[in-house]
Parts: sequence; C-alpha cells; structure tokens
Amino acid sequence: MTERLTLAIAGLGTVGAETVRLLAAHRDLYAARSGAMLDVTCVSARDRTKDRGVALDSYDWQDDPVACADKADIVVELMGGDSGPAYDLVKAALTNGKSVVTANKALIAKHGAELAELAEKHGAILRFEAAVAGGIPIIDAITHGLSANRFTSLAGILNGTANYILTTMDKEGRDFDDVLAEAQAKGYAEADPTFDIDGIDAAHKLAILTSLAFGCTPDFAAIHIEGIRSITRRDSAYAKELGYVVKLLGITEQTADSGIRQRVHPCLVAADSPIARIDGAFNAVQCFGNAIGRVLLEGPGAGAGPTASAVISDILQVARGNRTPAFMQPATACKAATPASMDSLQTRYYLRLSVLDQPGVLAEITRIFAEHGISVQSLIQHDADANRPADIVMTTHETQESSMQQAVQTIARMQAICDQPQLIRIEPV
Ligand code: NAP
Ligand code: HSE
Repeated sequence: MTERLTLAIAGLGTVGAETVRLLAAHRDLYAARSGAMLDVTCVSARDRTKDRGVALDSYDWQDDPVACADKADIVVELMGGDSGPAYDLVKAALTNGKSVVTANKALIAKHGAELAELAEKHGAILRFEAAVAGGIPIIDAITHGLSANRFTSLAGILNGTANYILTTMDKEGRDFDDVLAEAQAKGYAEADPTFDIDGIDAAHKLAILTSLAFGCTPDFAAIHIEGIRSITRRDSAYAKELGYVVKLLGITEQTADSGIRQRVHPCLVAADSPIARIDGAFNAVQCFGNAIGRVLLEGPGAGAGPTASAVISDILQVARGNRTPAFMQPATACKAATPASMDSLQTRYYLRLSVLDQPGVLAEITRIFAEHGISVQSLIQHDADANRPADIVMTTHETQESSMQQAVQTIARMQAICDQPQLIRIEPV
C-alpha cells in the first residue's frame, strides 16, 4: 500500500512556488518513484495576498514559518538566509524529528555541522541538493556515485548569476549593471544580489562541497573570496586575444603539505577547456578523484525549474528512507580542516595595467618582476590614443602568489600607473 507523507513548505518565491506546482502536477509519478503520496498540507510566506501562479487555497497557511516545524512529516525550507526564521525553522523541525529539505546554502555553509548533528541525534534526515549548483545533482554524485574516491580537488562555476553576467558581457559587449538587472528578472539572483557578484554565494556552495569531498565541517570563514565587480569588457577582450575566457570559479584543493585551500575568484581559463564553454546561468563542477580521474557535471545552476527539480529529488529520497548522512559521513566524524593559505599558491597570472605611455615604464615594471623572481610569458600593448593612458597586459609563467601580490603592490605605487592594476589568476582547469 502506498504511504502518505505530508509536506510543509516555508517560502513560496521563485523556488517554493515551482516546487508546489510540480508536486501537484506530478503527484502520481512521484508516488510511483518514491512509494509515497506526497501531499503539501501547510505553507508559509510573508505576503498572503500575493499571486504566486499556483493554487494555495487548500493548504493550511502559517504566518509564522517556524510554526511549520511540527505541521508535517517533511519540512521544506525555501526562504533563505543564514539566520532568523530559516535557521529557527530547520532547527525546530529537526529537534522534532522531522526530516528537512532545504535549498539554503548560506544556512548550511554556516550551520551545517550543527544541523547535521541535530538531525542524526533526533533520527531525522537533512538534505540540501539544491543548495549547490541548482539543478545539477552534484551532492548526490559525490555522496553516492563517486563515493569510492579520495578527492584531490574540486573546481566549478558555482554561481549562475555571475556566469550569466560574465558570459553576456563577453558575448554581447554589454555593461555590468544592465546585465545584472536581467539576471534578477530571470530569478537567478539572490535576494541580496551582492552575494552573487561578490563571490559570497559561490563561497557558501564551495564550503559545502569542501565538507562533502574532504569529510570536514563547512568552514566559510577559511575561504579566500573575490567577486566580479572589477572585471571589465576590456578584460574579456584581452582574455579572448590571449586564448582565454573569464570565469568566476570556486576551487577547493588538498595541498601537498599544508591542508585544504578554498578560494573563489575570477579566473582566466583556456578558451578550449570544457569549463570555458559553460555559458549563461549554467554551472559546472569538475571533480578529481583518485580512482575515476576527472569528472565534469554541468547543467542549469539557478532558476525556478532546475532548483525545484533538486528540491523534489531530495523529497523523494526522504520518502524512500535514504539515510546517507548529510555530509556523507556521520556529523560527529567530521572535524575542522586545517586551512592552507593563499600565499603559497603557485599559478600563472594575467596583469592589466593602465600606464602613461612614456619611456622606461615597461623597463621599470619588468625590473620589479625580476626582483620578485617573476618571469613574463606574454605581453600586449596596442597603439594607444596619445592623450590617454595605454593598457599593458602581461601574463606570467607560474609563480608564487605572495611574490605576485608584493610585485603588484610595488607596481601600483609607480607614478606612471593611472589606475588600480587588474590581477587575474590563470587556472589550468
Ligand atoms: P525568493 O524568490 O526571494 O523567495 C523567498 C520566499 O521566502 C518568499 O516567498 C518570501 O515570502 C519567503 N520569506 C522570506 N522571509 C520570510 C519570512 N520571514 N517569513 C515567511 N516567509 C518568508 O527566493 P528564492 O530564489 O525562491 O530562493 C529560496 C532559497 O533557495 C534561498 O535559500 C536561495 O538561496 C535558494 N536557491 C535559490 C535558487 C534560485 O535560482 N532562485 C537556486 C538555488 C538555491 P514573500 O513571497 O511573501 O515575500
Ligand atoms: N543566486 C544563485 C545563482 C542561485 O545565481 O547561482 C543558485 O544558487
């Protein structure tokens, strides 16, 4: 006989409304796949009068989302935020022994260890597939399909909004603000879009991936974060000339000697690499495992349908009774990792300088590079308008981050430098 499981859904925005719609539209299919009739019985959002494009009349409406904590068998948190009602609801539901599905990366990146422990203590299931890379089943891939592997690194395009902006600026030569407004209108951006463009949202997701891949507790504070505000159309054009494209990547790696390095920053990636062709709001995650080698998963990383797809896959897993621990191994076995510093990173760099076109300027820049043991690999300087600063664009051979940062600080103090230097790491993904 088919079991009946009730659902309480808190948050009826882009993701929540689509989740409610899909659950109603495909009830029989989901019952056949999970063995349970999944019935939404309770919902919550801030504005009861808002038209959300789905029928809500038959559900018990709660003005206070935390009241959903004991109203159903499975509690689905789709409000967002790393504290306040989202945290209170998830904590209360797990304490009540209710299984929880959430898409909230900020919450899991900050409180994941505590919440996973709470779930295990109270015999509940905590799942958050939609929190990382939208519709791509990356958490399922790591915790099931790739679980035979020791991971050495994971690298990915983890923010659909930033990728949409970079791709559109590159392909259509449009301005940053104009494209951001478009990404917001399409439902990709966070409630606070600075999270998308300043790399914070990608870092939330990276903290979760690191925890899954390396069996440690999520450590958002250990992540080096740079966003995409400083990237200009000129950088996209120079990158193209050099055979690269600009992408915002999240990278987590086990270093040989000093722990785990986590970083989110713009990167130049080879134009013919698989990650370079991930366009628009698509995400991609590349995993390196000892047994499998390289695996790349790509797909839609944001938006109503892809995210609701991941939320419902988690609901189906709960209905099937899948009790894989939230971070693959029991929460009590996950310890804090030792963070590796950025200073010891070895990579190649792109440097764009806006300079006064005078004798000796290039010689001075290369002298500073030589002083820091940095070797130039290529150099671009096009004919400039006599009255305007000229761009000098250099790429380096592999060098140490600390040397590069010191050299750029010294160069930035030169009289002939007209603007903040633009430094972008070249990533061999
Ligand atoms: P959204 O469109 O802004 O919707 C948020 C919903 O939460 C709204 O229905 C809002 O109510 C409700 N809400 C917010 N604060 C509340 C409160 N204090 N009490 C009751 N209800 C409250 O956000 P979203 O894009 O659907 O994102 C939801 C979650 O999914 C977030 O954690 C986000 O990071 C995550 N996520 C989103 C995407 C995406 O592509 N959008 C992808 C992956 C993960 P009102 O509608 O009444 O204002
Ligand atoms: N704002 C996020 C993004 C939603 O643009 O990727 C998906 O997590």
